[in-house]
Amino acid sequence: MKRILLLITCLSWPVSSLLASEIGDPDRGMRLYPVCTACHGAQGAGNAAMKAPKIAGQMSWYVKRQMELFQQGARGTAPGDMQGMQMAAMAKGPQLKDPQALADLVAYIGTFPDQAPTPTVSGNVETGKQLYAVCASCHGQKAEGIESMAGPRLAGQSDWYLLSSLQKFKQGQRGYHATDHGGRQMRGMVATLTTDQAMRDLVAYINTLD
Ligand code: HEC
Ligand code: HEC
Repeated sequence: MKRILLLITCLSWPVSSLLASEIGDPDRGMRLYPVCTACHGAQGAGNAAMKAPKIAGQMSWYVKRQMELFQQGARGTAPGDMQGMQMAAMAKGPQLKDPQALADLVAYIGTFPDQAPTPTVSGNVETGKQLYAVCASCHGQKAEGIESMAGPRLAGQSDWYLLSSLQKFKQGQRGYHATDHGGRQMRGMVATLTTDQAMRDLVAYINTLD
């Protein structure tokens, strides 16, 4: 494999640069991860005490997209969003300025084992199921995520983080930036969820999917 890559590199610079910009190297990414460990855990399982979500098992294109939003100031800059601000400071670290470094880090996160988190939010699963019907077009019937709709996986995510994200969209602390098209769509969606209980019911239903 290494020899083939070397050959491509010798034959054509544009091809090798294209490869470099699209494919992350998990081995190189591993060296960039230690700084994330304090909040997200050594294998990305998340840490409720730090309000840092699980990142293991999430789709790689979404992890990358969120890192870019934080880097560009399109997430984590809203007044009162303390967790988002903490995270934005991390994403803006000089070692992640290079897009290849970010791709490498995301590739490493993609190697983490995906373990189901312990449920903490309770709600009416039946009501949540009915409310979820409208979410499926972007997040999938089983909340597995749909890349072409830019909708991340929700199944397997810590429920307290799903709830807090819904609340942040509702309060305008996510999806407020002009360039954050996905987040703006989500703000439109949460506008239809009028009560905190509706969000809890939804999250309780998502907990039943895998
Ligand atoms: C100081 C603690 C802290 C550190 C260190 C940290 N994060 Fe975070 N991260 C957070 C918090 C808190 C959030 C949730 C922000 C919110 O509530 O909107 C978050 C959110 C994220 C998200 C968004 C997940 C989603 O589903 O929306 C990603 C991706 C992420 N972090 C990756 C990383 C990576 C990669 C690193 C290391 C370079 C890192 N974080 C370092 C605290 C941290
Ligand atoms: C029109 C498409 C669309 C629909 C419908 C939709 N979403 Fe989303 N959702 C998105 C997109 C795009 C994002 C990513 C936003 C971003 O990049 O910050 C998202 C993000 C989220 C997140 C944050 C996840 C994370 O890890 O950060 C949650 C929670 C969520 N959606 C729940 C729901 C629920 C519940 C419904 C139904 C009430 C719903 N969504 C309906 C497109 C949609």
